[in-house]
Amino acid sequence: MKIGFFQASPLLGRKEENLERAISSIRGAKADLLVLPELFNTGYLFESQEELKRSAETIPQGFTFSRMADLAESQKVNLVFGMAEREEDKIYNSAVLVTPKGDFQVYRKLHLFDLEKLWFSPGDKELEAFDIGDAKVGMMICFDWIFPEVARILALKGAEIICHPANLIFPYCQSAMVTRCIENGIFAITANRIGTEDKAGFKLSFTGNSQVVDPKGNILTRAGQSDEGVWTVDVDPSLARDKKFTSRNHLFEDRRIEFYQKGNLC
Ligand code: ACM
Repeated sequence: MKIGFFQASPLLGRKEENLERAISSIRGAKADLLVLPELFNTGYLFESQEELKRSAETIPQGFTFSRMADLAESQKVNLVFGMAEREEDKIYNSAVLVTPKGDFQVYRKLHLFDLEKLWFSPGDKELEAFDIGDAKVGMMICFDWIFPEVARILALKGAEIICHPANLIFPYCQSAMVTRCIENGIFAITANRIGTEDKAGFKLSFTGNSQVVDPKGNILTRAGQSDEGVWTVDVDPSLARDKKFTSRNHLFEDRRIEFYQKGNLC
């Protein structure tokens, strides 16, 4: 199975241009599963909820979903991408999985980062694993990485590959995802963005270095800090089904849950 990511620098507010750039890049690639960054079509630094509302779309009725579903069908690729989702009066920072058949799933970011708390509603959906045929995949978004519970729950629910759209500004996550993969025996695709946004008194630079990591923590492919394009690598998702760490250690069965739950700390 060939998996990978698209890394780019979206232009703030120029949704159709961002979408077209991603589509033409992905059209030139061959893959079974590709992940795009968080908010890949809009950019990140919103000034107000009003501005965000104008950029957000409903799923599956919106323009972005419809273009990405067409791409998934014509390229026979499963796509995971981050976008601002509107539902009634709420806006979520969401990740969408769309398959070549047009089936789709939505994950809404549970752990909002910094200014996002002013713009988005926190996610209200369970963490789930979805069967795409070649593998079971789970979704999490950017800052969710700092809560190890997220990757753990996805892995416990059967996710073999975590799809991780991101807009990372700190340099820690790429290394932390190596640990998430080792401790859960899973693959992870982190699709980060690059570039700088300077707006409303804030300046954010995004760290790139999108990567695919395997269950032993090997970085199978990694982009640079300013490269744009699609990267892919062949993987065997069945490697994520073996949770034995040694002949006497099992990543899930050796957990001492009764001790973790003492004092209601979970
Ligand atoms: C982030 O969650 N976008 C840092």
